[in-house]
Amino acid sequence: MLNRRRLLGGAAVAGLGTAAGAGAVAALAGHGSPVPTAVATPLDTGTATVAFHGPRQAGVSDDPPAHAAFVAFTLHPGTDRRALTRMLRLLSDDAARLTQGAPALGDTDATLAVLPARLTVTFGFGPGLYPAAGLEAPVADLPPFKIDRLDRRWSGGDLLLQICADDPLTVAHTQRMLIKDARPFAAVRWVQQGFRRSPGVQAPEHTQRNVLGQLDGTANPRGAAEIDPAVWNPDGSSTLVVRRIRAEIEKWDILSVADKENATGRRLVSGAPLSGTAERDEPNFTALDESGLPAMPDYSHVTRAHVTDPELKILRRPYNYDGMPNAAGQPDAGLIFAAYQRDIVRQFLPIQQRLAERDLLNEWITPIGSAVFAIPPGCAEGGWIGEQVLG
Ligand code: HEM
Repeated sequence: MLNRRRLLGGAAVAGLGTAAGAGAVAALAGHGSPVPTAVATPLDTGTATVAFHGPRQAGVSDDPPAHAAFVAFTLHPGTDRRALTRMLRLLSDDAARLTQGAPALGDTDATLAVLPARLTVTFGFGPGLYPAAGLEAPVADLPPFKIDRLDRRWSGGDLLLQICADDPLTVAHTQRMLIKDARPFAAVRWVQQGFRRSPGVQAPEHTQRNVLGQLDGTANPRGAAEIDPAVWNPDGSSTLVVRRIRAEIEKWDILSVADKENATGRRLVSGAPLSGTAERDEPNFTALDESGLPAMPDYSHVTRAHVTDPELKILRRPYNYDGMPNAAGQPDAGLIFAAYQRDIVRQFLPIQQRLAERDLLNEWITPIGSAVFAIPPGCAEGGWIGEQVLG
């Protein structure tokens, strides 16, 4: 068995052609656990905090922590503007405390609150929350796309709590406290749990790989100068689209490296566009390859998704998911694709329409859930999320 695993490890590395990779994979095959070499985990990972109060909500432009739970609720019939206000005051107070490492009021296990590990709680208001409060909704569900195979189980929602932290126990405790306090006002509709690389596993400036093995996030806006015009409205509000996208990984596995690269438009190992040599090279959509064809295929994901206007870009903040395989051992994995932008119709929709119409990657990915939320501005100390909308 060990020999067979060694052999398979060796074969995979031969495909990638990296000697350093060969060492790492051989170590993995022989000992079962790779030793992280990139950076040491800082000792303050557990006590690190992200400010809750401020004009904009946390959990959007800050670096995504390793674990996330997206919790969507359906309001109970009769949860009106007054009830919503009570609920949001309560949940804001919980989030303000828990994110700073303090127990929530009535916390059933205060010992679990002391390591926030960069905990953020981000509130999103779905299209149904506004009419319940007698208001007109600023967001609407996305139109259907021909690639969609949506399951109600992963779609819609009147309220979203996006809970992120570098530790899964912190996320679990926060999720439990918030759901408990929301219970009189709303029912849980769906929960999606996801993960990224843990802190210390690789240097933070390196782009992460997703469950398909692709470097994911290269062309994302970076820093306030790029993020602000794409994500934040002057009043501190934003919007969020959450799509659960299943990866047909076993079909993807049998592709050659060249086929995977053509589908994405970037090299698998370096992340460089097929028209360039380094990850940060700008893709050149007019460059031709040796055979006279466009170096960036016009059906590749990057070619179809590319946006040049800084105000029309989106901020992708995806998490991987990996559920229970079926009885045949086929994986249930993919992305909880979360994208923030000022305006869904102006920014997200045209990209999604181009991808739905023609994107080679569609052969190996299937949207199975979809939800949209308005992200209200943040609040000052003593305030609550939603006060500008409902107050
Ligand atoms: C499972 C689903 C998806 C996978 C595996 C995936 C993967 C990737 C990869 C590997 C890249 C290139 C590296 C990078 O810039 O991050 C990329 C770029 C991008 N993707 Fe996706 N993606 C998925 C879904 C989507 C969706 C649903 C949208 C929006 C509707 C989207 C929008 C973009 C954009 C805007 C870029 C940057 C293009 C550029 O300007 O270079 N992706 N994606």
